Amino acid sequence: MVSDSLLPIIITAKCSLGYVSDNNQTSCLGYHINDNLWYVNWLLWGVPQPFPVVTVTDSYLISSPWTPFGLSDDPFFQAALDPADSSRSTHPISLFVGRTAELRLIGSQVVGASSSRAILTGGPGVGKTSLVNRIKASLAGQGVLTHAAPVRVVGGMTPRQFEAEVLRVLLQMRAGEQAATSSIPHAPATSSRASEQAEDDAFWRRVGRLIMGEDSVAGGVSLGGFGVQSQAVRIPAEVQHTALTTEVTEAFRRLSRNGTRRLLLHVNNLENLSTTAAQAAANLMQQVRDTLLADFAHWVFVGATGIERTVFGGSTQVSSIIPLTVHLPPLAPADVADLLRRRYAHLRSGLRFTPPVDPQVAAALYERFRGDLRGFLNLLALAVQQHAISAPGRTVSAGDIIAHVAARYQASVVPHRLSAEDFTHLVRVVGGQPWPTEFRVTDVAARAAGALTQAGASKAVKRLLLSGVIAEHRRDGRSVYYQVADGAVSVALAQT
Ligand SMILES: Nc1ncnc2c1ncn2[C@@H]1O[C@H](COP(=O)(O)OP(=O)(O)O)[C@@H](O)[C@H]1O
Ligand SMILES: [Mg+2]
Repeated sequence: MVSDSLLPIIITAKCSLGYVSDNNQTSCLGYHINDNLWYVNWLLWGVPQPFPVVTVTDSYLISSPWTPFGLSDDPFFQAALDPADSSRSTHPISLFVGRTAELRLIGSQVVGASSSRAILTGGPGVGKTSLVNRIKASLAGQGVLTHAAPVRVVGGMTPRQFEAEVLRVLLQMRAGEQAATSSIPHAPATSSRASEQAEDDAFWRRVGRLIMGEDSVAGGVSLGGFGVQSQAVRIPAEVQHTALTTEVTEAFRRLSRNGTRRLLLHVNNLENLSTTAAQAAANLMQQVRDTLLADFAHWVFVGATGIERTVFGGSTQVSSIIPLTVHLPPLAPADVADLLRRRYAHLRSGLRFTPPVDPQVAAALYERFRGDLRGFLNLLALAVQQHAISAPGRTVSAGDIIAHVAARYQASVVPHRLSAEDFTHLVRVVGGQPWPTEFRVTDVAARAAGALTQAGASKAVKRLLLSGVIAEHRRDGRSVYYQVADGAVSVALAQT
């Protein structure tokens, strides 16, 4: 029986059962009102309404384009995956796909030696940080002690500052470990155990004091690559020139419990280095060589392609202590499809689910980006949000993705990669054509219809080649065929 108290009411509720689209109208299937009350939109399902009419004001439809797909959040997020799985994480490492060979290579070096050093290189957004985080998660499961926020190398760092940064990370590792073990009940301490403990505490307190006020990346704020000015560093005058190598070595020994467990250190930020900055980093590595060689520690250095030469290859003293360099290629398209499937499954919230982008379609589109996974995920997020304005909860096709973001890419990408004039030449030759349409210098001159001579076209092609916007595709006799090689520029050109 329905009582009078259940007369029509107006509520504001979150659509929780997913959306259904019909005749260009999107309606909610059901709303979660409170812990035990659900409003199910029976009328939509063609079943007679069994309750008094309930009018639902949906205040969430506009704010989240993901809800109509049956997703709780943006599946195209661009953050690196977290180093540890936690139930609260929106980017858990369990979403990681592929990279088995690289994971094995670096991981087995760590478990197979008492100390080691490896370099991981790759283009921007290819997945370097996520891979290191995956390695950390896997090794942590095997008893290796590691840390979340990486050791940061910043502009103009002195050896002492680098060592202070390492000690800061080691202090965090110890704090994390203590927090984890404090909940486990201990047997009553013997007096010798208690004095050992007191001595250990005293050591770490001293380390804390030593590095206080001279942390060059105070507050954990990354200052980017070497090219960026580092912020003012406060070092007490009397200790400015004393190296902290002894303290670092001692800290390694203590944290590793005299070498009975391994430590993994993740050094980041060796990216976008100018020649001078790379030289400064190379000098720094040479000066901290002893620290890098200390017992019980395993180092993974992460940076742009080429740091194995520019930062670690300058002197044999340094290159000889780095036995392993792993270069990260673009993720395979099949892995990209898998990545999206996992993200969708992780973020599914409603009963109904519609993929914002078909994983196979995304994988095919990804081939254009050749490695910049971050840039690619950004493209998908923009396209889906744009599409959702007119068609919420509808899967976006490859053609629509390009159509939605071409203008935005023109405004944001083109000015950084090529001149407006060269872009116009490309628009005439391959704009709106299927990707990757090939062309020759003669095509550039012909399509310019008098606005460009053959020599001018040849110069334009050289400029585009030099900047990496286009690449040679094939030769046929004396004819050279080119294609747009930059995924973002090809999107700006609306290549389908
Ligand atoms: N192997 C992978 N599996 C799943 N997602 C990945 C993988 N590699 C990268 N990603 C995702 O791609 C984006 C860029 O990765 P990131 O590790 O930050 O790249 P980089 O450090 O090389 O700039 C992030 O959103 C990250 O979650
Ligand atoms: Mg990174």
